[in-house]
Amino acid sequence: MGIGELIKSADWKNEKHVPVIDIPESVIPGTAFDVTITVGKEIPHPNTIEHHIKWFDLYVKYDDGQLLVHLGHIELTPVTTQSRAVLSIKLEKSGTLIATSYCNIHGLWESSKKVDF
Ligand SMILES: [Fe+2]
Repeated sequence: MGIGELIKSADWKNEKHVPVIDIPESVIPGTAFDVTITVGKEIPHPNTIEHHIKWFDLYVKYDDGQLLVHLGHIELTPVTTQSRAVLSIKLEKSGTLIATSYCNIHGLWESSKKVDF
């Protein structure tokens, strides 16, 4: 079994674990822009010691590449830190952003967002 079989995805409007990726409407190659990752955008996820989102990872897969490039890792603290983070990134070419989030009870989730120039 590979890890891919264990990563879950779903419509974020119906599922509180999906890391929703938001980017500006227009993105310029080689110019920094903010990527916001939110878990529980439509349906709030609990944020307690017993049940919380522990971390996010953000990757890009360039259209002309085969590999996943890691862009950042955000560790969250339950109760105080909300399940939302902003990373400033700079892409030289089009690709697909992929975010993962980890819930200490419900496992690993993913979503993606195409970035076109
Ligand atoms: Fe959960």
